[in-house]
Amino acid sequence: VHKSLLLVLIGLSLLTLAGCSRKTTEYRPTATVKDLMESLVEPASDALWGSVTTIVTSSGTEERAPHTNKEWANARHQAIQIIEATNLLIIPGRHIAGFGEKAENPEVEISPEQIETLVNQDPQAWTRLANGLYDAGLVALQAIDARNADALSDAGQKLDTACENCHARYWYPTKFENEHP
Ligand code: HEC
Repeated sequence: VHKSLLLVLIGLSLLTLAGCSRKTTEYRPTATVKDLMESLVEPASDALWGSVTTIVTSSGTEERAPHTNKEWANARHQAIQIIEATNLLIIPGRHIAGFGEKAENPEVEISPEQIETLVNQDPQAWTRLANGLYDAGLVALQAIDARNADALSDAGQKLDTACENCHARYWYPTKFENEHP
């Protein structure tokens, strides 16, 4: 009896080991940070900012805010895009831009390779700034779920700050230094 129990236990632990070594849930980051900015973060935040705004024309000012169910639903989709994009941003092994890609405005921006070096030197700082965008996105989501346009407008400010905090550190740190000597 003892022997067979031992065999069963050995068998079980082998099974467990086999299960652990089979990595079926590994992330496969394909897009670059730049891609995520262009395809998710920017379009979603632009749409969100545009949904609560004041438009000044020659014929007066128009306060724009979501009203219909569809407009609130759209705002919600955009907030979700921003929130979950922040998880994509912190997946390890994601590159900043395509191999050999250069900064588009080299007078103010550092190169994608330099950004990547900064991120790898201190991944926690990167995570903290991505979490900052998460937090702002969550405030927007809560405002949307409460259908509170004023709160959504405030969340828009927080969103803007969260973008700026990360960009100032990683994207154009030299411009930032020049502005704040
Ligand atoms: C955790 C850091 C981080 C946060 C937060 C962040 N960004 Fe970025 N963003 C970057 C980095 C790094 C780049 C530079 C990548 C590149 O273009 O080479 C960038 C580049 C961009 C670009 C230029 C993309 C291109 O075509 O070169 C846009 C647009 C942009 N971000 C928009 C936003 C907006 C809008 C927000 C906030 C809603 C935001 N980002 C928040 C890190 C961040």
